[in-house]
Amino acid sequence: MPGGRLLPYLRSMRQPKPFFYQGQPQLGSAEALRFMCLSDGHLGQKDSMHPDHLETLEQALLREKERMAFCVYNGDLVHDCPERLPEVAELFRKQQVRLFATRGNHDHCPEEDWKRIFGHGLNHRFQEGKTGFILLDSSDEQGSYRCVDRAFLAESLEAYRSLSAVFVVTHLAQGGQSYHSISCPDFLPLLQRFPNVKAVLHGHDHDMNGQVYCAGIPHLWSGHIGGSWGLPETIYREVIVEPDGLLISCIRALRTGEILQGHVFRNRF
Ligand SMILES: [Fe+2]
Repeated sequence: MPGGRLLPYLRSMRQPKPFFYQGQPQLGSAEALRFMCLSDGHLGQKDSMHPDHLETLEQALLREKERMAFCVYNGDLVHDCPERLPEVAELFRKQQVRLFATRGNHDHCPEEDWKRIFGHGLNHRFQEGKTGFILLDSSDEQGSYRCVDRAFLAESLEAYRSLSAVFVVTHLAQGGQSYHSISCPDFLPLLQRFPNVKAVLHGHDHDMNGQVYCAGIPHLWSGHIGGSWGLPETIYREVIVEPDGLLISCIRALRTGEILQGHVFRNRF
């Protein structure tokens, strides 16, 4: 290396950039479908390390609401206090961000209340352009870990068979692929039958912000935005679906929006 360039090179080494997209402000094209995915705020948890997470979330929504089509909140919105769920829904309403939510094991909310608060059921599907979303409940009112309703999943996958992309969203990982996941033997084989399933989105594992390929399909986590344990930084995931079906996703810091890592998912395996 020429001597004159050595100093800038050494300086750059002080800022580790392990992922290609780190620090870039924007990914994807203007035509892409872009949505926000986050999980695990655990509002009301006594020993939370992030007692102000709702304020931080509100700032993030203010910053992102023009760019994002909607937000998916993937479970554990509250920590064993279902009476506080309306506070979370109200925050999104106030910022005029469309919200879709899955029930986590700490939400303890019956279906009729969930529908009243969030405007949709515990198992729910919706379509945004040529992309389908299937939200699946993986718990119950008591907070048990549950396999998702495979009949609803199969019916929804069938209904969305002709779409160019489908996302499956559920709080608890179903394939035994993380320490806190459960093993539901027929979940992955069912997804494998539908090549348009682009990714499965999970919450619950506060210590995971990356991807695991299971049955050839990327399973994507988004860490946590609150609670008492997990990755040191609270984060959210931006998911980008290009018109040709290409999937791009990055993890951003909740406080600043800075990209911490990003990936392009070209193919299923
Ligand atoms: Fe959880």
